[in-house]
Amino acid sequence: MSALLSSLLILSLFSTGISLSSNYYEKTCPNAESLIRKAVRDAAKNDKKVPAALLRMHFHDCFIRGCDASVLLDSKGKNTAEKDGPPNVSLHAFYVIDNAKSAVESACPGIVSCADILALAARDAVVLSGGPSWVVPKGRKDGRTSLASETRQLPAPTFNISQLQQSFAQRGLSLKDLVALSGNYSSQIKLIKGRP
Ligand code: HEM
Ligand SMILES: *[C@@H]1O[C@H](CO)[C@@H](O)[C@H](O)[C@H]1NC(C)=O
Ligand SMILES: *[C@@H]1O[C@H](CO)[C@@H](O)[C@H](O)[C@H]1NC(C)=O
Ligand SMILES: *[C@@H]1O[C@H](CO)[C@@H](O)[C@H](O)[C@H]1NC(C)=O
Repeated sequence: MSALLSSLLILSLFSTGISLSSNYYEKTCPNAESLIRKAVRDAAKNDKKVPAALLRMHFHDCFIRGCDASVLLDSKGKNTAEKDGPPNVSLHAFYVIDNAKSAVESACPGIVSCADILALAARDAVVLSGGPSWVVPKGRKDGRTSLASETRQLPAPTFNISQLQQSFAQRGLSLKDLVALSGNYSSQIKLIKGRP
């Protein structure tokens, strides 16, 4: 009985987390996507490394506690946030998400989550770099927990293929996903240099 109840509770918790849709803000914030795209474009004009930074930020966010914007939270008091964990060395361009959030907040206060903003900004960054486009499902909720210690859960640069595969499998990602998301050398280099 209690097992069933807890399964149901877990299910209902999950279902609030997974009720994403492509038209989530259609009525409540129709300009959200174009405002975010503009913030990404404007920043990338001044700093060609912005697109790479946004894509990696999204990856680091999603691998820890899901895509909940926990990577954006600052360390506070005794809590050291993900941002200040060891793999943060090259995470940068947080200001782009701040700019996008400000633009979206002035248009429709309190509607669009930071998690959705980051997911959209990463998509826009890839498109801006000459990569493919995709429809981003929206409706993610922002997390409130961000722990530097959990950045150990990110795949390390020293991982061999089986460790990489395991790390991705733990997040429901296949070997094909691993290859697709890691990209190939020439597309990575282009992105890092910020040249479309
Ligand atoms: C498969 C496991 C992965 C490992 C071990 C890994 C590791 C790394 C490391 C060590 C760097 C250099 C960091 C530095 O400059 O200090 C890096 C950069 C980067 N990674 Fe990954 N990564 C992985 C997967 C991914 C995935 C899945 C994505 C996105 C889909 C991604 C996107 C990037 C980007 C865009 C950069 C350049 C960031 C910048 O220059 O601002 N990586 N990665
Ligand atoms: C990364 O974390 C270190 C502490 O581990 C901190 O001193 C540094 O400011 C952080 N860098 C960024 C870009 O957040
Ligand atoms: C990968 O590394 C793990 C842990 O060190 C090891 O057990 C495993 O045999 C390695 N696999 C391959 C294919 O090298
Ligand atoms: C690797 O990326 C480059 C640049 O985006 C692309 O032209 C090439 O077809 C890709 N190669 C493979 C094997 O996907």
